[in-house]
Amino acid sequence: MSDSSNSANATHAVVLAAGSGSRSGLSRPKQFERVRGKPIVRHSVDSFLSHAGIDKLWVVIGAGQEELANEALSGCSAYYLVIGGDTRQQSVRNTLNAIAQSGGAQSILIHDAARPFLSRNIIDSLLAVLKTEAGAMPVLPAVDTMISTDGQRLGQTLDREKLRRVQTPQAFDFEKLLAAHDIWPEDITATDDAQIFQAAGHDIHLIEGDENLAKYTFPSDFERTPMQTQIRTGMGFDVHQLVAGEELWLGGMKIDHVKGLSGHSDADVLLHALTDALLGAIGAGDIGDHFPPTDAKWQGAASEQFVKYATELIAGKGGTINNVDMTLICEAPKIKPHREAIRANIATVLDIALDQVSVKATTTERLGFAGREEGIAAQAIATISLEKI
Ligand code: CTP
Ligand code: MG
Repeated sequence: MSDSSNSANATHAVVLAAGSGSRSGLSRPKQFERVRGKPIVRHSVDSFLSHAGIDKLWVVIGAGQEELANEALSGCSAYYLVIGGDTRQQSVRNTLNAIAQSGGAQSILIHDAARPFLSRNIIDSLLAVLKTEAGAMPVLPAVDTMISTDGQRLGQTLDREKLRRVQTPQAFDFEKLLAAHDIWPEDITATDDAQIFQAAGHDIHLIEGDENLAKYTFPSDFERTPMQTQIRTGMGFDVHQLVAGEELWLGGMKIDHVKGLSGHSDADVLLHALTDALLGAIGAGDIGDHFPPTDAKWQGAASEQFVKYATELIAGKGGTINNVDMTLICEAPKIKPHREAIRANIATVLDIALDQVSVKATTTERLGFAGREEGIAAQAIATISLEKI
């Protein structure tokens, strides 16, 4: 928001959240229900508050909804509460009065809280149009065949080319909208402000709407909230020393070899790298943070439990593993004969399909510690999908 809030040149935004949401089937007013991690009303409040073209924000709530509103908007910077009325139209009326009493405004954007996903683009477009027009609103084409009906039978099939679906915010010259509301007959209920504005003789300029601005009305709207998926990647790397007299565990499989890997747990270098990759994808530190080598309870522990723990952390964040890819770096033993078994085991531990798991191996051409068979290194990468809220 900008800070020229009290001037009559200012652009005010109004979020209408005074309804009861009776068609939603929810136990509390729908505007306070959480979708994508925030109360519905909070989404458009945040959109307006973060837009520099909006000077002052009014949030309209129902009488008795103060506590719900304070909770939903806690931590929000400057906004002004208004108590709405019995109808949407009355709620707007109360707000126009409050704005007029506080010194008026140049322009006003009136928005349904029930349309939470308000983009910067829509606000930008409306503000741009208001520079030359007195009224503007977003609309979308009618895609289905449209009919009229008495509720039971087909009336007329309408020409959908001439029809549009109307959204909010609707943007107006403030004084003209106030005057239009003044002359609108109180006994006729208007479901939006554009019809009131037009009845007073003004044009409304149409801008392209946004499917994401869809209104939450019925229970099914709450079930099919679109999720945004975020792809995450994590990498892991580990080395353990090869010594005589130890068992060799790679990818959760015991492998016959003259030497084994030494370490605090079963020293499964491949699963350790994999665990770090999984933890890395959700920014959850590394294996040592969760299973400190200083803790005696991990002595000789099967490393599969580290992997399972990391997958549970991912699942707890609503994430799913897309794929993992690993490389073992060693001279001996030869990995190829064990590769498919290791792959299948890791797919089972992660509970994903075999083609989501890749295990590869390479030597270092006899160079370095791996080349001298003093140790085995492993690297891993994991890709996961997180539902972004
Ligand atoms: N609204 C309002 N004051 C009212 C009625 C509605 O501020 N007296 C607001 C709603 O909170 C909503 C927007 O107007 O953000 C659009 O109304 P609608 O989708 O019909 O919401 P509700 O009236 O709450 O729902 P319902 O009609 O199902 O009861
Ligand atoms: Mg309603």
